[in-house]
Amino acid sequence: MSEPIAFARDRIEALRDQIRAADHAYYVLDQPVLSDAEYDRLMAELSELEAAHPELRTPDSPTQRVSGAPSEKFARVVHREPMLSLGNVQTDGELDELDARVHRMLGLPPEEPVRYVVEPKLDGLAVELVYERGRFVQGSTRGDGVNGEDVTVNLRTVGRLGANRGVPERLAGSPPPRLEVRGEVLLQKHHFAAMNQVIARQGGEPFANPRNAAAGSLRQLDWRITANRPLSFIAYEALAPGGDAGRDPGRDRWKSHWQKLQELRDLGFETNPENRLCLGMGEVKAYRDRMADRRFELPYDTDGVVVKVDDLDWRRRLGAASKFPRWAAAFKYPPQEEATRVEKIWASVGRTGILTPVVEVKPVRISGALISRATLHNEDEMRRKDILEGDWVLIRRAGEVIPEVVKPLPERRTGAERPFVFPATCPVCGARVVREEGEKVYRCTGSACPAQLVGRLTHFAQRRAMDIDGLGDKLAALLVERGLVKEFADLYAVPFEEWQKAFSRPRKVDAKGQKPELPEKSAQNMVEALERSKKATLRRLLFALGIPQVGEATAATLARHFGDLERFFAASEEELIGVRDVGKETAREIRAWTAEPQNQRVVRRLLDAGVTAAPEEVAARGFFAGKTLVLTGSLARRSRDEAKAEIERRGGKVSGSVSRKTDLVVAGEDAGSKLKKAQELGVKVVGEEEFDRLLAEPGS
Ligand code: IVH
Repeated sequence: MSEPIAFARDRIEALRDQIRAADHAYYVLDQPVLSDAEYDRLMAELSELEAAHPELRTPDSPTQRVSGAPSEKFARVVHREPMLSLGNVQTDGELDELDARVHRMLGLPPEEPVRYVVEPKLDGLAVELVYERGRFVQGSTRGDGVNGEDVTVNLRTVGRLGANRGVPERLAGSPPPRLEVRGEVLLQKHHFAAMNQVIARQGGEPFANPRNAAAGSLRQLDWRITANRPLSFIAYEALAPGGDAGRDPGRDRWKSHWQKLQELRDLGFETNPENRLCLGMGEVKAYRDRMADRRFELPYDTDGVVVKVDDLDWRRRLGAASKFPRWAAAFKYPPQEEATRVEKIWASVGRTGILTPVVEVKPVRISGALISRATLHNEDEMRRKDILEGDWVLIRRAGEVIPEVVKPLPERRTGAERPFVFPATCPVCGARVVREEGEKVYRCTGSACPAQLVGRLTHFAQRRAMDIDGLGDKLAALLVERGLVKEFADLYAVPFEEWQKAFSRPRKVDAKGQKPELPEKSAQNMVEALERSKKATLRRLLFALGIPQVGEATAATLARHFGDLERFFAASEEELIGVRDVGKETAREIRAWTAEPQNQRVVRRLLDAGVTAAPEEVAARGFFAGKTLVLTGSLARRSRDEAKAEIERRGGKVSGSVSRKTDLVVAGEDAGSKLKKAQELGVKVVGEEEFDRLLAEPGS
């Protein structure tokens, strides 16, 4: 190879490594190591070199991934131990048969109850994670049970958005030399709903249910897409194979499945808090019956219950039949679909003016709730599904949450059914309705449409935005109707008496059977919630404003890039394109929005009302808020810097020395003088495991 090529090759390799490391720091660790400008320079240099030396271009180069075009197929992973599936049982009789077979095969007296572990059957995507010496080295999908797909890089991002503990990069405790963990990658129901809304708004095809959405998010060729999806991981099995001369240390490591689940937790995985140990089939059935209703309250989809023999030695003796283990089975709940009649279809107007077809049906009970309406994403979906006013339809709850029309039952048509035609004018403000070329949706063109305003206010107030507790769509509609609120800042100026009046209307007893609070109390709560919301962070505010194309992830990126509102408003389209993940189209829309004097005024008025936009996400509540911590010794699961960032993100401070003012000392391996000092002063000390627990605490 000639000199210049050899040089180019080395430089290209170095650049790729550096960019990949920067990507990892940015997307996975959430701790950028390069400024965006530096990153762009490296990318530009790499592109130039690759253009000059096309023979050195490889499909896995970071330059090839930007387009989102498939750049690599997933490599095949052969599971060392096949990932079996579970036999289904549907009736009490079948559960009793399973129990009888277990007794028979193990030679147990029939009256001796067997210990079973019962777990919700998670409806996600089964994966296997391999850890060597405590480090995550490979992750794969179940595939056909024997061959899976290598999705290691994608799995590394699971949990990054804080949905749960995700896939730990390094394990706590003392893991075996090789550990294979199996579990389910999931999307929680509320994340699924939010994600689909964004996809639908952007004209994309929404996912049918959380499982498809989780699978679609994980099986991405560009792992950065996965990184922006709030995926969770829940572990339910582990194998600790290998060891010396094929001896299986897994045999001795755990005696029971229950114990295994406990250790998975200690190692840093999320296990399901709903798992239970049952003595005998009677308890299993009771659990199944309790879960039949309770599962709708769980944050993720479950479609059944998994029953597993607890004793691992017994499991080995029971073994597996051709496809299924004999020591476990899945009890599936019947699907929740009901037939009902479409009474009416109408168009509801959202915050961006999009008209969404709403299907009103004769109320039916599904998955524990009374359903009276379902939305369709757009006209195309309505036409594709061929849903007419007056039709009998099957309704289900996608992900057991969002009511969805599955299909019409054409055999029940009488001829009186009518297609729904989108109105030419907005049903709320009367402005013209248009469906632009290439768009999938109809939009209201009214600039002062009250329905859009209500939508904007509820978006602004939602938990993930300004978090104004209690301000939902009904209240927002009332404020708009009374003319009290015309734009965001007006919320902060609504007089106390008006809140009181708003809360004085007769209100129903809520779902939990609790009586509503007194109007004064509710009004007081609202004023306090508004006051709290003023201490916003830049990322929340940017998301709350409802800027076109700016979802939660983009808002976070923009906040990180610009640091304050002024710089954000001053940014030109070119500068916006320079922000990582912001494409041309998004940059154009953002700039059009920031350049609009009306929007500038809206934001100025918010600031005048006392709203702040702090650059950092500083937690105002939670365990760490306002506390001073000292780190000492070496931590197994994270570097000092990482630990510091975790604490600071939760509103805590890290100091270098222990004093009486120290709230907590986190002591790792070989902690020395600081630990001693803490003990002398009586300052509380915790180990890394407890620290992990505190970090994982909800609201921390
Ligand atoms: S145990 C042989 N536990 O069900 C043991 N599986 O039909 C197999 N699943 O592919 C796995 N929740 O995707 C187990 N708590 C749970 C589960 C679970 C869901 C899925 C898993 C697997 C399928 C087996």
